[in-house]
Amino acid sequence: MSKNNNNRLPRAKGSEMATYYTAKDCARKVKRIVFQSENRTIIEEFLTILAMKDKFEEHDVPIPNKIVMYGPPGTGKTLTAFYMAQQLDVPLVLVRLDTIIHSHLGETASNVRKIFEYAKASPCVLFLDEFDAIARTRENNDEVKEMARVVNTLLQCLDEFECGSVFMAATNLQEELDHAVWRRFDTKMTYGMPDVATRNEYIRLLIGEFGQEDGTQEHAAALLKGCSFADMEQIVLKAKRKAIIESAMLTARHIDYSLEEYKPHVMA
Ligand SMILES: Nc1ncnc2c1ncn2[C@@H]1O[C@H](COP(=O)(O)OP(=O)(O)OP(=O)(O)O)[C@@H](O)[C@H]1O
Ligand SMILES: [Mg+2]
Repeated sequence: MSKNNNNRLPRAKGSEMATYYTAKDCARKVKRIVFQSENRTIIEEFLTILAMKDKFEEHDVPIPNKIVMYGPPGTGKTLTAFYMAQQLDVPLVLVRLDTIIHSHLGETASNVRKIFEYAKASPCVLFLDEFDAIARTRENNDEVKEMARVVNTLLQCLDEFECGSVFMAATNLQEELDHAVWRRFDTKMTYGMPDVATRNEYIRLLIGEFGQEDGTQEHAAALLKGCSFADMEQIVLKAKRKAIIESAMLTARHIDYSLEEYKPHVMA
């Protein structure tokens, strides 16, 4: 990870409020990314629009730059933020929630503002994970007044975010998000557990050049129904380790044992 040049990352509680990844760092992370077809279409269209900005300006049609992603763990939300930065060839600024949320909530609002100011000044993908932690519905909160202030700041920041950067947010808890915040996003993507075609594609990438008995990939794709990408990755890696220990090809049996050992909690 390298430091950015001129515009320093804002700090809070003595440390930087975000982690900075160069476009090159991002490229390394997204080598094996697989999108469900709907999301692929959304991302491709988003990138196409950004590549023909002038045309949109000519027609006075605003260019999208705010994406919200929601869905269960391990389905590729964070990975998509890395992908976006790599595709746009800009750094990814990954906000560290624990440093921006302060026990004095007035401080939290000010931190949110600082991080948006930073992204306005230096082109990047600004990514806020666990977005629900600061964008909870205003009604639902214990520290109602102070939290409302954070949400209001966030609304203002989103409204004023007219710049070359892209803001991305991810959450597992869509229903907890403030409606007004939700409306501010021009692009929304739902993530879910992969279907059989997507599982096949991902498992093929995970197995790669590793020798496999015929039908192993298809067996795994059928068996791992209900698993997230992150679960599949762990299971296939475990299976590969077993095969290496035995100096054998990867087989359906290795996949079966690995699944049994791994016990992904998503499967009943
Ligand atoms: N769509 C995908 N394509 C390829 N790999 C994936 C995908 N989704 C998840 N993975 C694998 O699982 C890991 C975790 O994924 P990621 O961090 O993107 O999940 P997430 O949706 O952000 O989960 P959480 O809600 O827990 O933050 C990735 O580093 C990658 O190895
Ligand atoms: Mg994530």
